[in-house]
Amino acid sequence: MARLALVTGGQRGIGAAISEELLKAGRKVVASYAGNDAAAAAFTERTGIPTIKFDVSDFEACRAAVAKVEAEHGPIEILVNNAGITRDGTMKRMDREMWDAVIDTNLGSCFNLAKLVWDGMSSRKFGRIVNIGSINGQAGQYGQVNYAAAKSGIHGFTKALAQEGARSGITVNAIAPGYVDTEMVRAVPEDVLQKIIARIPVGRLGHAEDIARGVCFLTADDADFITGSTLSINGGQHMY
Ligand SMILES: NC(=O)c1ccc[n+]([C@@H]2O[C@H](COP(=O)([O-])OP(=O)(O)OC[C@H]3O[C@@H](n4cnc5c(N)ncnc54)[C@H](OP(=O)(O)O)[C@@H]3O)[C@@H](O)[C@H]2O)c1
Repeated sequence: MARLALVTGGQRGIGAAISEELLKAGRKVVASYAGNDAAAAAFTERTGIPTIKFDVSDFEACRAAVAKVEAEHGPIEILVNNAGITRDGTMKRMDREMWDAVIDTNLGSCFNLAKLVWDGMSSRKFGRIVNIGSINGQAGQYGQVNYAAAKSGIHGFTKALAQEGARSGITVNAIAPGYVDTEMVRAVPEDVLQKIIARIPVGRLGHAEDIARGVCFLTADDADFITGSTLSINGGQHMY
């Protein structure tokens, strides 16, 4: 039986590439999203991958969604915590709401979903969890104390949870993408973007597929000796 992967934020941007790459690798995939119904419908029509709408920052919504996915498709054996947002601003401009939204969506979601699939993975003695961090969680970024803290938190969360899963066949890894050509990055002003590209040794932005390839590698059945690691996929921009 094909293993089932849940990819959060899996119908758009990097997540869509992850969902498609996992499907190509023979996994069953369900992609979650927050509210962009049009993107979800177009994605399902194009790929055949079903989607489910819920807020990853809301524990009870996650509980209901995991129960629904497992009832309809079987146990979640691969979890990719990819959903994320930015609410940028310098400390002077950042308010508590911007802080909470980014911490709850980017980091709280990793707890919510890992917690909800953990007992099942433990009892089946198999699980693959990949959390999508960021180069900005490794290196910090001006105007992103919320995002850098959340992503840096993901890297710590990954290393701690990996230790708990190791004896139960559950691997927990992170990927720290550099700048990838998605809507999130296209929102950056053009002059700033050109300066960013000039600092990337390979001379281009990443493609979503570059990240998806890493997720496939880390979630393979025979990747069982790789746990607690952070894979940097950033064109050489930050060597950590
Ligand atoms: N793009 C980059 O250069 C880059 C670099 C480093 C790390 N990352 C990380 O990679 C991940 C994907 O980034 P991306 O650029 O592909 O982002 P994106 O294009 O903005 O897509 C974000 C996805 O997350 C979903 N989402 C947002 N908030 C959610 C919530 N509260 N509940 C459920 N789903 C939610 C969105 O759903 P809707 O479509 O319904 O809104 C969408 O599917 C993020 O974690 C991001 O921080 C990106």
